[in-house]
Amino acid sequence: MTTTPELRLPEPRTPDPKAAPALRWGVLGTGWIAERFVAALHAGTRQRVVAVGSRSQESADRFAAEVGAERAHPSYAALVEDAEVDVVYIATPHTSHFEYARLAIEAGKHVLIEKPMTINAAQARELRELVRARGVFAMEALWSLFLPRFDIVRQVLESGALGRIRAVIADNGEWFPEDHRIMRTDLAGGPMLDLGTYPYMLVNWVLGAHEQAHAFGQRAPSGVNGQTAAITRHAGDAQAVVHTTILGASPTAATIVGEEATIELPGPFYMPGDVVLRAADGAELDRWTEPSVKHEALHFQAAEVARRIAEGSTESPYRTLDDTISTLETMDEVRRLSGETFDGA
Ligand SMILES: NC(=O)c1ccc[n+]([C@@H]2O[C@H](COP(=O)([O-])OP(=O)(O)OC[C@H]3O[C@@H](n4cnc5c(N)ncnc54)[C@H](OP(=O)(O)O)[C@@H]3O)[C@@H](O)[C@H]2O)c1
Repeated sequence: MTTTPELRLPEPRTPDPKAAPALRWGVLGTGWIAERFVAALHAGTRQRVVAVGSRSQESADRFAAEVGAERAHPSYAALVEDAEVDVVYIATPHTSHFEYARLAIEAGKHVLIEKPMTINAAQARELRELVRARGVFAMEALWSLFLPRFDIVRQVLESGALGRIRAVIADNGEWFPEDHRIMRTDLAGGPMLDLGTYPYMLVNWVLGAHEQAHAFGQRAPSGVNGQTAAITRHAGDAQAVVHTTILGASPTAATIVGEEATIELPGPFYMPGDVVLRAADGAELDRWTEPSVKHEALHFQAAEVARRIAEGSTESPYRTLDDTISTLETMDEVRRLSGETFDGA
């Protein structure tokens, strides 16, 4: 066992979000995350929401007035046909991401699709094909990967400073009221797609695709899955332990365990927050700290989308469609093993 006392965390290389070329955004769906995304976008970038699409004129009008958008469309179809929109942000429940992403892509629009991109890998593969055929930009809104915090982790992983990585341990648990959509079986409720996207993304990012999995799950009173624990085996004798729950709050922390050093991401690990670097003997070597803002940091991913579209790319290298599909393949397998099915999937 070796310790490397001189090991330090690098500074994040995240580009200034305000420097990203300004695009005209259309927002599809006017719910909880759409409101936060637009607030972050307008506060932290030069991007502008110019149009909103909703299932009702009333919601479209209300949201457009709130965010200062010029046009309020009474349908998603009308939004994607808006010639003055460059990129559509899809912010509807999981079960409809596939349908509305397809609608926007077929209308020739670039898309940023809320996580999870689709409810399963099969749908994501179909979208990937469509995206490639149409030549538009598409990305799952896995905002964590665009935060300065995650760029520090990215650099540490790239440097090999952790030594051989043996484990990723990640959890995401949150309490929700009974009337939240996460309790609804018809909207693919349960923790997997809302909360699990983050730890399964982290595992996939650090360890790659799983080779083998075991999983157990239990139901919540509403009939959706309540919690799931999974163990996966990966190349290089590495393994991951992932837990997700809506039955109570949990630390929502993550640890990347290397033979030379370990990275801890105190909870909530997928939002802005600290990065702790520990030597193999557990001694703290370095700590990066930032203000613990939450969804105010959603704009980093929007700036990435704008930069990539402006340079003519159809994907971001930090969240490729292949990565999204690989993550969903593990989530599909964990659901199969734990007996978790969604209506129609
Ligand atoms: N990145 C993050 O941190 C984060 C956080 C929360 C949620 N999310 C993701 O964002 C997505 C939306 O979550 P949310 O919490 O914003 O949901 P929400 O508050 O329920 O809003 C969803 C919106 O989608 C539209 N919609 C279309 N079909 C619908 C249907 N059948 N039932 C209900 N609404 C429907 C509605 O807008 P109109 O009435 O205008 O059509 C509604 O306001 C989810 O996929 C979730 O995973 C991401």
